[in-house]
Amino acid sequence: MQQVVLKSARVIAATALVVSGVCLVGLAPRARAQQSAVSSPRASGAASRGRAVYEQHCVECHGREGKGDGPAALTLVPHPRDFTSGRYKIRSTESGSPPTDADLIRSISQGLPGSSMPGWRGLISDADILAVVEYIKSLSPRFAQQQPEPITASAPVQPSAESVRRGAGVYATLQCAKCHGEDGRGSGAAATRFEDDWGYPMRAAVLSEPWTFRGGAAASDIYMRFRAGVSGTPMPSYKDTASESEMWDLANYVVSLRRKPVWEMGADEVSAFYKQQDAEALADPVKRGEYLVDVLACPICHSPADQDRRTIPGMRMAGGLRLYLAPFGTYPTGNLTSDKETGLGNRTDDEIKRVLTKGILRDGTRLLPFPMDWPSFSTMKESDLNAIVAYLRTVPPVRNKVPRPTRTLLPVFLWGKFKMLILGEDVPSYIYGGNTGIVAGGPR
Ligand code: HEC
Ligand code: HEC
Ligand code: HEC
Repeated sequence: MQQVVLKSARVIAATALVVSGVCLVGLAPRARAQQSAVSSPRASGAASRGRAVYEQHCVECHGREGKGDGPAALTLVPHPRDFTSGRYKIRSTESGSPPTDADLIRSISQGLPGSSMPGWRGLISDADILAVVEYIKSLSPRFAQQQPEPITASAPVQPSAESVRRGAGVYATLQCAKCHGEDGRGSGAAATRFEDDWGYPMRAAVLSEPWTFRGGAAASDIYMRFRAGVSGTPMPSYKDTASESEMWDLANYVVSLRRKPVWEMGADEVSAFYKQQDAEALADPVKRGEYLVDVLACPICHSPADQDRRTIPGMRMAGGLRLYLAPFGTYPTGNLTSDKETGLGNRTDDEIKRVLTKGILRDGTRLLPFPMDWPSFSTMKESDLNAIVAYLRTVPPVRNKVPRPTRTLLPVFLWGKFKMLILGEDVPSYIYGGNTGIVAGGPR
């Protein structure tokens, strides 16, 4: 699916700009409010250096108080870690026990591949990494109450065709395909989309792309994820369900699923790879549409959020999030579910497509080129627009009647444009928690 990313780079970049612009500006007052609220008696001595490092490099994503709610967090999947919970994904310790310092140092130094968590080695000094580890540990009482119980890895089963074959058997017995698909790429999986323990969206790993594994791609890393489990996610520890050698065979099997990444391919291989991806997209427009909707961040604007900016349960794509862009007006987002009355159920394909390509809304009025960046959506291929519509048709109906956006009067529009273009001022924009829509006949 890399191709989409390349081809629609403009679309994505523009959307990201709009979305990040909206959240960064919108959340700034909140971040400032939090700053004054920080009072950390625990931060003393070495931890005060850690706190300084944290405030300089980590707050944008992890938030002032370490709750994972920094201004950049809204658009990130997976969501930044909430350090106050004391729960960590990447551990070499028994399930239910906190990570070791070495685990945290490793995650911070190398980053968590496949997420926005950067690797900090070389960017900040090793001493600062140690200091920030102490600081984030001080944010949860867990580290004072519980000692990590490190796991001693058993002797590895050397990779061989035989071990890979046995691993395939273990994969079947343990029903990994339920979440990862028969092929490790989600085909035939019961579900690949989940919520983490904090209520934020996440996806099952694509096993043919080990460069996205948070804990590393080596057989020993993968073995440790089965042995220790991945806290906060549906990935359990298999300590009691599989033997040591089975976990090693399984790790060797997962390693064997690796496909060649684009950056290791020659020009011919790259074009063959993209051709195959195009063919897969055409063969399964709903899957393609779901992918596009995710990367173009449609659910972020078109779902109502609670005060922690989590989608209100059961309301994904049901609209009702309120955006305010001064001085242009208030924009409650539309209901994109297949509900006939309040969603897109009764809309024709062309009506939906003209919103995305021309900004023409259901009552014939036109949306300004913001907050939804339809001018960049309009550059999409016809087959991609069709795929988005095909996917939207499958979104389960939710009744949520959302009010219309305010009409921007010409003088207000001109004043706004003058401020942006001539005075060079940013458009102050805000995202409000809660649902502006009226939910009918549903227990919510
Ligand atoms: C650009 C955003 C971003 C910045 C900046 C950032 N992080 Fe993260 N961090 C993340 C995300 C996203 C995750 C969660 C990834 C996941 O759950 O797979 C994460 C997870 C973590 C984890 C949890 C690892 C685990 O096992 O669960 C640690 C520890 C961490 N970050 C430390 C830091 C520190 C220390 C800094 C500053 C030096 C920092 N991060 C800066 C985005 C960021
Ligand atoms: C209930 C669903 C579920 C089952 C069953 C499951 N997984 Fe996962 N798995 C996930 C999710 C969700 C993630 C993503 C975790 C994350 O993003 O941090 C994941 C992540 C992984 C990873 C990447 C770990 C990393 O470092 O990021 C591997 C490898 C993996 N699973 C293999 C397996 C294998 C092999 C099995 C069978 C023994 C299995 N999984 C069973 C849901 C599942
Ligand atoms: C930055 C926020 C934002 C993003 C991202 C966004 N939209 Fe919108 N969208 C809006 C706003 C605001 C409206 C106007 C409100 C309305 O008409 O109900 C709107 C209107 C719509 C409408 C018309 C709804 C109606 O009831 O007539 C559709 C359809 C739509 N968007 C689809 C999408 C799709 C598909 C994507 C992703 C490709 C997307 N939007 C991304 C904010 C956004």
